[in-house]
Amino acid sequence: MTELSGIRTSGPAHLGNYLGAVRRWAAGQRPDDVFLVADLHGMTTTHSPHRLRQYARQAFALLIASGVDPERAVVFVQSDLVREHAALTWVLECTCTYGEAKRMRQFREKSGGQDSVRLGLLTYPVLQAADILLYGADRVPVGEDQHEHIELARALANRFNGTYGEVFVVPEGVVPAVGAGIKDLAEPTRTMAKSSGETPGVVFVLDSPDLIRRKVERAVIEDLGELRYAPKEQPGVSNLLEILGACTGVSPREIGAGIADLQQLKAAVADTVVDVLRPVRERMTDLLADQAELDRLRAFGAARARDRATPRLEAALKVVGLS
Ligand code: TYM
Repeated sequence: MTELSGIRTSGPAHLGNYLGAVRRWAAGQRPDDVFLVADLHGMTTTHSPHRLRQYARQAFALLIASGVDPERAVVFVQSDLVREHAALTWVLECTCTYGEAKRMRQFREKSGGQDSVRLGLLTYPVLQAADILLYGADRVPVGEDQHEHIELARALANRFNGTYGEVFVVPEGVVPAVGAGIKDLAEPTRTMAKSSGETPGVVFVLDSPDLIRRKVERAVIEDLGELRYAPKEQPGVSNLLEILGACTGVSPREIGAGIADLQQLKAAVADTVVDVLRPVRERMTDLLADQAELDRLRAFGAARARDRATPRLEAALKVVGLS
């Protein structure tokens, strides 16, 4: 069994990425697992080349700082294999229909009201399918927001195999029970996301403890007289309970029982998040200071990724009539 996980570099990694994804990936890794820093995905909307490079380094360091072992698992940066990923993306774009791409919720949300939309924003779920199918992954752990992209990858794998012959493993998405949908602290009906523009409600992994405390202190919550996990009626309170639950491994429904009031809830969330992120931030900072070691690990991961990707890419090119 091969699990493949990915993190996009359209902005710095945040608490949602960490609790919903990175932390679980690191805990459950097997020698065959693949972890990719999806920097090609970081340029589907206006981007800064300098920051794109910086976020890729940070995300790579985050994976290792969180416990992904680069000697066991395959950990790499997507653009180090840009030719492989771009080539399979083209083949899959010629397997996908315009209607399928246009229906993606993320595309509709991010393109709505914009005058100019990069074509890559429409096609990036196909790039994501290529990321998954190149490595023969059968399980893809993701937060709720990515579910539709995994469904698309499944549909494309099935269609490709049915049309040209069995080349791809059909992947399955795995969504964690707790922490899969951390919301923005300032707007708790919205998912915590890298592209939130102004970010008072987004806690970044590299935020200082003081800044984390300020953001949690200002979190928007409802004062309905009772502290209950009810995402529809009390989205702000429920999000804090979800964060606390995801950090401590207790169900968000139960964790509220020992908490007296909203102030105590915020204090508990701030302390817990600071404690959970501190060691990761410290390890990440150390790694980022050691450029030579980071470069060595990155080259090592890229070589291993290429060994895994090449045979399947060649098989796919061959059956469609290329090469
Ligand atoms: P990205 O970078 O948006 O998110 C990385 C992982 O974090 C999860 N996540 C969240 N979980 C809980 N609460 C949140 N607020 C939250 N926000 C994000 C995501 O579900 C994801 O698991 N397109 C992908 C990156 C990608 C990828 C792949 C993933 C590229 N290729 C191949 C899997 C397989 C993305 O945008 O992730």
